[in-house]
Amino acid sequence: MIVVSGSASNHLGFLVAKELSCKQLTTEVRMFPDGERYIRFAERIDGEDVVVIQSLYKNPDSLITEYGFMVRTLLEFGARRILGVFPYLAYLRQDQRFKDGEVVSSKVVSWMIETFDTSEVFVVDPHLHRLAGLKELFNIPAHNISAMPNLAHYAKEMLNATNPIIVAPDEEASQWAYKVASELNAEFKVAEKKRMGDNDVIIHLGDISPAGKDILLVDDMVSTGGTLATISKNLKLLGARRIIALVTHGLFAEGSYERLQDAGVDYIVTSDSVPNPYALVTVAPLIADAIRQEL
Ligand code: R5P
Repeated sequence: MIVVSGSASNHLGFLVAKELSCKQLTTEVRMFPDGERYIRFAERIDGEDVVVIQSLYKNPDSLITEYGFMVRTLLEFGARRILGVFPYLAYLRQDQRFKDGEVVSSKVVSWMIETFDTSEVFVVDPHLHRLAGLKELFNIPAHNISAMPNLAHYAKEMLNATNPIIVAPDEEASQWAYKVASELNAEFKVAEKKRMGDNDVIIHLGDISPAGKDILLVDDMVSTGGTLATISKNLKLLGARRIIALVTHGLFAEGSYERLQDAGVDYIVTSDSVPNPYALVTVAPLIADAIRQEL
C-alpha cells in the first residue's frame, strides 16, 4: 500500500503513511500562471492499493479536480484500487433542492468521486443531516470516521473539563454532541438554532442551565463562527464557567477567530481534517484504523 496526498492534506498524508507504516509517494503539484494545475508523480507504483487523501477545503472545486487528476493517473500507472480519504468532504450541506432549480451539489460531488473510479471512500464526520448515512450518497463502500471521541478525550485530559454539560447548538449537531456525551458519560442538551443568513443565526437555549458549569459546545464545523459565537454569548450571559468548543472541521472564514474570542469562547479545539491553528487532535490514527479494518 502507498499513500498519496493531495495538496490540501500533505501533513495528514504524512501522518497516515506513518501510522500505516507505508510509503508516501513524492508528488509535485504546482499552478500555472493561468490557474491550471500541474501534477507529477516522481516515483512509480506497482499494482498496489493507493490511499489518496484530500480534504476539500479551501477551494473545493479546484481540489476535487486535483483528486480526479491524481486518481485517473494512478490507475493508469497500475494502481490496484484507490481508497479515497476525505478528511473534510465539502458540499454536504447542499443535500437537497431547497429552492426550485438548485444544484444538489452533494450528489454531484459523490458521483464525481465514483466516476473517477474510486473503489472505497473514507470520510471524517460527514455533514449528514437529511441523509441517514453515506450509503445514501455513494454506491461504493463508504466509511464514516468520527473525530468526536478523540476531541472528547482531549477536553477531559488536556483541559480538565469537569462535570461538563455537552451542548449541541442545533438538532443537526446532536449526532456529534451525543458521541462526546457518551464518551464522557455527561449531561447532554440540544439548543435550537434558526439561520437568518450566511452570517446570522438566532439560538434559543431552552432548558440549559449553564451557571457555574464547564460547557463543551460541539459541532461538526466552524465556518463564520456565527453559530458558536451566538450560543457562547447566551451561555456566558447565564453564567457558564468555561466554554470549550469541540469541532471536527475548523474552516474559520475570515474574521471568525475574533468573533469567537469576542463571544467569550475560552478554548477551541478542532481536528486536523483541515489545517488550522486550533487543530490539536489528529485524525491520522482513526483514518489508519479504518483503512486497516477494510483490508
Ligand atoms: C450547520 O449546518 C453546521 O453544522 C454548522 O453549525 C455550521 O456550518 C457552522 O457555520 P458557522 O460557523 O458559519 O455558523
